[in-house]
Amino acid sequence: MYDIEVTVKGAPVKWKLPDPTFYEALGYEGMKDLMYRFYDEIYDSSISHFFPQDEEEFAKVKEKNALFFIEICGGPRVYEESAHGNDLNEYMIRLHDDFSINKKARFEWLGCMETALRETTGVPQALKDDFWNYLEKFSKLTVNTFDDGSVYYAAYEPGDIVS
Ligand code: HEM
Repeated sequence: MYDIEVTVKGAPVKWKLPDPTFYEALGYEGMKDLMYRFYDEIYDSSISHFFPQDEEEFAKVKEKNALFFIEICGGPRVYEESAHGNDLNEYMIRLHDDFSINKKARFEWLGCMETALRETTGVPQALKDDFWNYLEKFSKLTVNTFDDGSVYYAAYEPGDIVS
């Protein structure tokens, strides 16, 4: 089981982009397969209600989600058009502002990803761990609703990305 740190409201988050060798090990189709399995987990999770209930709309988000991860992991730039010229990280944080994401929702989301990753074969564990570290950190920035009932929308600065 991976550890998950709780999001501290307003605390800066430093994160590292995924090592491109994770994408290279999986390939385009392998990455898509991982993300489709992740969305199968989401569909059966306690956060499924956050996502479109219409099958076609759900399929669209699933596809876009796969394309984002292909690009952010160093693959072809197949998502950037969807970000309308915005910085990909900033765009991704702001996209989640529309949903009331709390600690529990983030933990569930990460749990779905952990299951999908565990069932992924042919990738060295160290690369899975590196990808996980990106998710665990970056996902803190998507949390906007806190247990005391307050709301806070995280900001990100390019200097928060460490190499
Ligand atoms: C590492 C953190 C995360 C990343 C990189 C990420 C990435 C994405 C991407 C790429 C999409 C599709 C965007 C599009 O339609 O163009 C998406 C959608 C969505 N994400 Fe996340 N996500 C993260 C964390 C979370 C968490 C913790 C939740 C908690 C519930 C969440 C909830 C959602 C929802 C509800 C949508 C659907 C949006 C819609 O209906 O259009 N995400 N996310």
